[in-house]
Amino acid sequence: MTQETLAAIADRYGTPTYVYDLDQIRAQYTKFASAFDWPKLKVCYAMKANYNRDVLATLKDMGSGIDAVSPGDIAMAQALGFDTKDVIYTANNITDAEMHEIAATGVLMNIGSLSRLERYAKAYPGTRVCLRINPDVVDGAHDKIKTGGDLTKFGILTEDVDKVTAIVHSAGLKVVGLHEHTGSGLQKADSVLRAMRRIMEIATRENFPDLEFLDFGGGFKVDYMPEEAPINIEKMGREITDLFRQFCSAYGRELGLWFEPGKYLTARAGSLLVLVNTIKQNRGRTICGTDSGFPQLIRPMFYDAWHRIDNISNPGGAPGVYDICGNICETGDLFAAERTMPEIREGDLLAIRDAGAYCYAMGGTYNLRPMPAEVVMEQNTFRLSRKRLTPADLVALILKESGSVNGQQDLTALDGRPDAA
Ligand SMILES: Cc1ncc(COP(=O)(O)O)c(C=O)c1O
Repeated sequence: MTQETLAAIADRYGTPTYVYDLDQIRAQYTKFASAFDWPKLKVCYAMKANYNRDVLATLKDMGSGIDAVSPGDIAMAQALGFDTKDVIYTANNITDAEMHEIAATGVLMNIGSLSRLERYAKAYPGTRVCLRINPDVVDGAHDKIKTGGDLTKFGILTEDVDKVTAIVHSAGLKVVGLHEHTGSGLQKADSVLRAMRRIMEIATRENFPDLEFLDFGGGFKVDYMPEEAPINIEKMGREITDLFRQFCSAYGRELGLWFEPGKYLTARAGSLLVLVNTIKQNRGRTICGTDSGFPQLIRPMFYDAWHRIDNISNPGGAPGVYDICGNICETGDLFAAERTMPEIREGDLLAIRDAGAYCYAMGGTYNLRPMPAEVVMEQNTFRLSRKRLTPADLVALILKESGSVNGQQDLTALDGRPDAA
């Protein structure tokens, strides 16, 4: 995305606006999928990373399936025409009602606790199921996104696998898949291999005659910081495929090799365009105030994440050091602290880069500021993908959901009856 294009998008649609390069997502998908020379490879995009409809439709065209984590994810995948057999449901801590809702769609459920497995077995004996195992490998870009080991709520512990087998056999469940997801932004190249070995040991030891695939989750790292080396996906792909080939030949069956990449596919394709409205000298610090904020891009505040930021309006400006802030009433509302950038002036357009994953998708409307617009680009043209609500639209929506008519609350409009006091 050239600076001219980003400036033209901001001119046309205003700011704040997310921009996604769909061609870049296509290229990234091809790069990922071609790294694994395996006939039964399946990529289930972790749509939690970015559920924009054009992003999803693009990945569907590329042949991707979906890793869904909520009934909303399933509804979106269905609305966009993803085939049920290409969707896996990896939610955690769900209610019985949610379990029944998902079971009715026919989507394969990936279960990560003994208690849920027992309830599922009771309700749906003899059906197909996938089991999420905690691989006991601890890795990830931040403590909050490590999903293996003791300090996480995810997956069935390896020492509980014999209990799993007892439940499975007594209900005649067909275990068609074994799954693990170690964490997001895996820092060590061999974490996937170590986690794979855990799952393979279990597949070898336990008797799951219906086993069709092993799913090794997502977590493929994006090099957000300039000094970070990118992962060598071709090399990783070869090592993973070699290990899987050896396993399948010893196991006696060619199983499916499944992955659920999220950020690897979409992070780099996104930018958030924001406008600088205030420059303020705070003794030693220069504050650069913009028209977005952490509810619209929370990764720096939530995970201490680092995002590249470009000054689109003044790329050749003399370097200065800036605290790049948002417009939200919170001290932590910072996109970057003490960032060296070409001179930033009031009215400049900034692009916060690598914002295609866990940015819009994690957003909210704190301070009653509507989420940014979303624009997509392909073949050098751009179009609006999702509009930005006005504050008045947002308030009207909230009031409607609150049963308000002309500022008065009509409780019967909410659920048909006022609750008893
Ligand atoms: C079960 C599962 N699969 C896949 C992913 C995708 O991870 P990433 O975006 O790092 O590839 C996640 C994200 O945390 C996850 O929880």
